[in-house]
Amino acid sequence: MKRSIPELQHSAAPLVMVTAYDYPGGRHAEAAGVDLILVGDSLGNVVLGYDSTAPVTLGDMIHHARAVRRGAPGTFMVVDLPFGTYHTGVQDAMRSAVRVIQETGADAIKMEGATPEILQVVQTLTRNGIPVMGHVGLMPQTATAQGGLRVQGKDDGTARATLDGAVALEAAGAFSVVLEAIPARLANLISERLSVPTIGIGAGVGCDGQVLVTHDLLGVYEGEDKKIARRYAEVGRLSREAIETYAAEVRARAFPTKENSFVMKDDVLGKLY
Ligand code: KIV
Repeated sequence: MKRSIPELQHSAAPLVMVTAYDYPGGRHAEAAGVDLILVGDSLGNVVLGYDSTAPVTLGDMIHHARAVRRGAPGTFMVVDLPFGTYHTGVQDAMRSAVRVIQETGADAIKMEGATPEILQVVQTLTRNGIPVMGHVGLMPQTATAQGGLRVQGKDDGTARATLDGAVALEAAGAFSVVLEAIPARLANLISERLSVPTIGIGAGVGCDGQVLVTHDLLGVYEGEDKKIARRYAEVGRLSREAIETYAAEVRARAFPTKENSFVMKDDVLGKLY
């Protein structure tokens, strides 16, 4: 059954969140019993083949989130607002969030950052009944400005900014905050300071929950090992091997067999000659 925000916030066990981008991904995540599904804008990297999340549009997110929702009607679903859809003012952000909620059936939206402008957006959305998950630490949408896809919070300046950002997001109304790629001790401190749950990725075991990009945990891309993830399967290798076997059988006329074919009565066939 779908968990409510208070249930998520008072969970005794660490929260489990995975990303999903389509109908089968939603079905698998729901059948596995995760607490939350994130339709992440990592969609751009792992599904659409871009080299960053910046080109992902609101239309892309809505299209994919609708499919996830059809596969996972009973799981709390968070949808990322993509780059540029909440940076041009509170009204634009509100419009983007309303579209996501109305058109996808999302339970909440997520946005990156904790600048004064973003905090104002978080405050307006939450006051208007749209639950917001915050995101600090490494923020892929603006990674270029952060000096690339690199760990944040190792030095005084970024550690302070990450801690203050998380605290400010909670004060602005965020019901939960993602901590991405920060030292475990900083994540522990933030998790102690916040009363809303922190969800970590590359932030150590002390967070109130964990999130992984499903394509990383499934091993969809062969040979790709990320420090912040663990492969629980080798789906990429299995997919390639299955397609290779199919190709070999087609070439050897070993597929399809009688079992895969339809029969026809002799007299019907006879009339065709
Ligand atoms: O887009 C995404 O998948 C994310 C997670 C890595 C938290 O934001």
